[in-house]
Amino acid sequence: MRVTHLSLTDFRNYAQVEVSFTPGSNLIVGRNGQGKTNLVEALGFLSTLSSHRVSNTAAMIRAGQDAGIIRARLEYNGRDILTEVQINRSGLNRAQVNRSVIKTRELTRYFSSVLFAPEDLALVRGDPSGRRRFLDQLLMLRSPRLTGVLADYDRVLRQRNTLLKSARASGSRTTQLGTLEVWDDRLVALGSEIIDERAELVRLLGDPLGTAYQAVAGEDHGPALLPLLSITGADGEDESAAGSAASATSTSTPTAASTAESARGATEDAFRRALAGLRRKEIDRGMTLVGPHRDDVVFMLNALPAKGYASHGESWSFALALKLASAELLRRDSASGDPVLILDDVFAELDLSRRRRLAAAVTGFEQVLITAAVLEDVPEELAAHTIHIHAGAVVDG
Ligand SMILES: Nc1ncnc2c1ncn2[C@@H]1O[C@H](COP(=O)(O)OP(=O)(O)O)[C@@H](O)[C@H]1O
Ligand SMILES: [Mg+2]
Repeated sequence: MRVTHLSLTDFRNYAQVEVSFTPGSNLIVGRNGQGKTNLVEALGFLSTLSSHRVSNTAAMIRAGQDAGIIRARLEYNGRDILTEVQINRSGLNRAQVNRSVIKTRELTRYFSSVLFAPEDLALVRGDPSGRRRFLDQLLMLRSPRLTGVLADYDRVLRQRNTLLKSARASGSRTTQLGTLEVWDDRLVALGSEIIDERAELVRLLGDPLGTAYQAVAGEDHGPALLPLLSITGADGEDESAAGSAASATSTSTPTAASTAESARGATEDAFRRALAGLRRKEIDRGMTLVGPHRDDVVFMLNALPAKGYASHGESWSFALALKLASAELLRRDSASGDPVLILDDVFAELDLSRRRRLAAAVTGFEQVLITAAVLEDVPEELAAHTIHIHAGAVVDG
């Protein structure tokens, strides 16, 4: 698929801007602080309903305004689709497709993009929450149905936590524990589906990750992803468990093997056993201690966890390769063509040979949007169509 046109109203430093994109590579150039990242952030938001920079959507509304609007014309399967989201400072955001109002959550069905930015280094070096978000976003792009499953899990988790807290306050009376069992069933059903879907995704990412890492780094450091599941006793949120990541993960591979029905049953059984074993502790702490919200996936390089061992360059290559692998997976089983690949401020970080290799790796995509402060940093074959940005406006080159 591709974006043919983007309109922004009161989005970040843009009062109003109209930008047209061509198939293939589009290079967005401009000095730092002019609005390059803002432009691609808008497209990323339209695709995932989240920003790669902020969790608070109000930051994306132009200062002093009440609402920002992102509108993009997309083309795929010979169809022309107009998508729009309005981000409101107070109240819910609103979405439209072809000028009809839709549930905002449904918007992610229409536009598929993969964005890589320097912030993604945190995928390798940061907290488990970033890695969980990465996996879940990719799951939602691959199967929009899972958007509902993930949202339902969050809701059940919150309600179960509230109940655990009140059980703690009331000295865990039996009536409340009875209600807890009802929530356990929901938690296990939804949570097991998420655990198995993530495991399958991690398995599918393996090969494209290896290929992409080799393409970017020019070397094979055996990148691998190892799920760390809290239901098998390896808690991603527990710092002391992280040190023994590599050994802890081996226990989780049986449930990671496939999404077949038997595997789902095994995941649910393990989940129930873990909850039963932690009942007392959960009530004491007033929170749910196992489930996909406590899981992690360990990024391995040269048979060591990349976090804490990999060099800056290796970590960078890993994060970039992970995004390229995501794009490859999406293109492989999408009915609407390739996702739009967005590379924000990537080329300045790379030496000449890595720039060339990255250019070669992305030229096959239907559309690639690249931002750079210095035009010369980007290999010539990607600079055929340039868009110059200055102070929140498109200017002539
Ligand atoms: N909500 C907002 N309202 C107005 N300006 C904003 C808002 N958010 C960010 N900006 C401005 O946008 C500029 C940064 O744009 P950005 O796209 O990150 O630059 P770059 O071209 O370096 O990628 C800064 O000048 C910042 O002050
Ligand atoms: Mg930028």
